[in-house]
Amino acid sequence: MSTEQAPASAPSGTKTYTLKDLQENGTREKMYMLLHDKVYDITPFLDEHPGGDEVLVEEAGKDATEAFEDVGHSDEARAQLVPLYIGEFAGEKKSKKVAVNSTGVPSSASSSGPGVVTYMIPLSLFFAYLAWRVYFA
Ligand code: HEM
Repeated sequence: MSTEQAPASAPSGTKTYTLKDLQENGTREKMYMLLHDKVYDITPFLDEHPGGDEVLVEEAGKDATEAFEDVGHSDEARAQLVPLYIGEFAGEKKSKKVAVNSTGVPSSASSSGPGVVTYMIPLSLFFAYLAWRVYFA
């Protein structure tokens, strides 16, 4: 029995690549691409890309996630990535930049801080007092 915990980053056995690896493999002969912190060897795909190879060459050696998502690629396009996957990115993980709290909700979206009710209670007491003054005082 193994007591090994699930690793926080890449599963053991998965190869990791640095930014340097990406930059060194940025030619038509050998091209790696970084998408969502995963590294793909897109060399065999260059000639098959419906959007042409030029756009891929432009994104070589850097994080192409934004360019890829901006196009709004289909699920079919995403499925084509599977056989091209070669490993995880070892550099700074961009997609984990958003701070998340313990519930997994981005902290900016959390509902902490005073809500409407907090203001409604003293406000309604104030108006009740005013009404009392008008009618009974
Ligand atoms: C290895 C990663 C990529 C794969 C597997 C891929 C796959 C595809 C596929 C299958 C299409 C056809 C439309 C669709 O199904 O969404 C497409 C279109 C397109 N892709 Fe990619 N793509 C990749 C990376 C990129 C990147 C990095 C760019 C950068 C800008 C890009 C730009 C485009 C454009 C502009 C089109 C539209 C072509 C047209 O409709 O004339 N793709 N891609």
